[in-house]
Amino acid sequence: MGTIGLFYGTDTGNTRKVAKTIAKKFGEGVVDIHNVAKATAEDLAKYNSLILGTPTLGDGELEPTWEEFLPKLDEVDLTGKVVAVYGLGDQDGYGHEFVDAMIILYKKAKERGAKLVGSWPTDGYDFTKSKSVVNDEFVGLALDQDNQADMTDERVSEWIEKIRADLGA
Ligand SMILES: Cc1cc2nc3c(=O)[nH]c(=O)nc-3n(C[C@H](O)[C@H](O)[C@H](O)COP(=O)(O)O)c2cc1C
Repeated sequence: MGTIGLFYGTDTGNTRKVAKTIAKKFGEGVVDIHNVAKATAEDLAKYNSLILGTPTLGDGELEPTWEEFLPKLDEVDLTGKVVAVYGLGDQDGYGHEFVDAMIILYKKAKERGAKLVGSWPTDGYDFTKSKSVVNDEFVGLALDQDNQADMTDERVSEWIEKIRADLGA
């Protein structure tokens, strides 16, 4: 088992692709990737360090398989666990609800007792509004494969260096 459990949901595969990029950058054997469409709450509870990733879909909403998985977290005590979130969105098409779903994962993890790490500056993005911005920062890593795919690799690298020690990796 790796040190970090990465749990993601996806509609068209972008969030899975980023999950693989994150895992690769942490190094071999560090990150176990789980699709929430197939995962259980027990799978998640095994890890002391977690990364949760979702795209924003619908009208600023969580990806549907995450929507189904999220209530299962109510069975899991996340006290003492460290959690970082990342979210995919489209700042051009959905500039009024850019990466809104990220805050849903963030709030749930916090509510269950986890320590949240990995907030991220809003510099370099062009959007009007996001529920996932708290105290002028995104609550996790915001990525935009629709408009800024060329920036993803570098953003992921920087974010990982920011959270690596907190996640014990
Ligand atoms: C129907 C639909 C609704 C979307 N709604 C939002 C939204 O409210 N906010 C946002 O930032 N992005 C929104 N997006 C953009 C997606 O989050 C983005 O394309 C993401 O990369 C998809 O990730 P996935 O391939 O993992 O499903 C939407 C995309 C679609 C197709």
